[in-house]
Amino acid sequence: VMTPVLLAGGSGTRLWPVSRKSFPKQFAPLVGEESLFQASARRLSGVRFGAPLVMTNADFRFIVAEQLDQIGIAPSAILIEPSGRNTAPAILAAALTVARTDPEGLLLVAPSDHVVPDAEAFGRAVELGVPAAQMGQIVTFGITPTRPETGYGYMEAAGAGEGPVTLKRFVEKPDVATAEQMIAQGNFLWNAGIFLFSARTMIEAFRAHAPEFFAPVEEALGTAKTDLGFLRLAPAPWDSLPDLSIDYAVLEKADNLSVVRFSGHWSDLGGWDAVWREAQDATTERGNVTDTRSTAIDCDNVLLRSQDEGIEVVGIGLKDVMVVTTNDAVLVAGMDRAQEVRKAVSALKSKG
Ligand code: GDD
Ligand code: MG
Repeated sequence: VMTPVLLAGGSGTRLWPVSRKSFPKQFAPLVGEESLFQASARRLSGVRFGAPLVMTNADFRFIVAEQLDQIGIAPSAILIEPSGRNTAPAILAAALTVARTDPEGLLLVAPSDHVVPDAEAFGRAVELGVPAAQMGQIVTFGITPTRPETGYGYMEAAGAGEGPVTLKRFVEKPDVATAEQMIAQGNFLWNAGIFLFSARTMIEAFRAHAPEFFAPVEEALGTAKTDLGFLRLAPAPWDSLPDLSIDYAVLEKADNLSVVRFSGHWSDLGGWDAVWREAQDATTERGNVTDTRSTAIDCDNVLLRSQDEGIEVVGIGLKDVMVVTTNDAVLVAGMDRAQEVRKAVSALKSKG
C-alpha cells in the first residue's frame, strides 16, 4: 500500500480574501460542499492507500485534525513544520519518516488544494505509475496544457501514450514566451504537482541534488516532540532550511523521472480566475458565475462572490471582472489580473 502524503502548509494568498493566513484556501469549501483538503484526503483513501501522513504547520493543525475527523479518516501522523520552507523539506521529511519502517515503501505526495473530480480515473493513473516507482523512478502526472500558464511546471515527455513515459526535461514556472514555445512543440505536459516514488528513491535524489537539506531535516525529525497527537519538528534545524520547492530542488535536476498522462479533469485552484472557470457548467449564462447573494445584470464573464452572510453583491454592465467579498474585505479586479491578488496580501501586510 502507498502512503498518501498530503501537503497542507501553503497559505494560498492568490485566493484572498477568502483564503487567509489562518484559514487558507485548502480548508475552505471553494467548489462543492467539502473543503479541497477533505476532497483530497478522500481521493487518497481506499484499498490502494494506507493512512495519510499530513504535512502542515502549527496554525492549521487543529483544522487538519478536525476536517479529517469529520470525514472519518485517521491519519498515520500529522507533522508540524515550525516554519514554511516550501515543499522540498516537507517531502524529504515524509520520505525519511516512511523509510524508518519501510525504505522501499511508496509515497504518493499530493497538494491539498486541487480539484480532481474523477477519483476512480485518478486512482487508475496512480496504479499505472506503481511499477515504475518500484523500479526507482520518480513518477509525475502530466496534464495536457491548454494555455501558456506560467504558474506551472512543464515536462517534456520522451514518447506518446498514457505511460509511464520517460521525462526528458522538467522546467518549473517558465516565462510566457518559453511556455508558448513548449506548447507549440507538442510533447510538453503540465506537472500536476502529484508525485509517486519510493522512500529510498527520494532520499537518494536529495543526496544527489540537494544534499544540504539532509542534516537539518534529519535533526528536526530526530528531535521532534509529540504534542497532543501531533509531531512537532524541531524549529532550530528546520528554520535554517532553504525555502525551496521540490520542483526546483530535485525535479529540474533528476534524470529518473517518468510521467503518467492524466486525461481526467484537473485544476489547481491557483486563483479566482480558476475558481470562476471551475464553477461554470451547462447552466452558466454569458460566462457569469454568481452565488445566492450576488446578482449579475447585463454582465459578461464575471465572478461575483459573497462569502459570508449578509453582504449582497450586484454587478451591472461589468465585463471580465471579479468581485469577492467577505465580512471584512472586498476584492475587485480584472479577470486577467487574478495572479496579482497575492500583491494585495503583501500590500496589506506592509500596512500592518
Ligand atoms: N506542508 C507544506 N509546507 N506544504 C506546502 C508548503 C510548505 O511549506 N508550501 C506549499 N505547500 C503545499 C501547498 O499548500 C500546495 O498544496 C502544494 O504544497 C504546492 O505548493 P504551491 O505553492 O501551490 O505550488 P505551485 O502551485 O506554485 O506549483 C506546484 O504545483 C503546480 C501544479 O499545481 C509545482 O509543483 C508546479 O510544477 C505544478 O505545475
Ligand atoms: Mg498550487
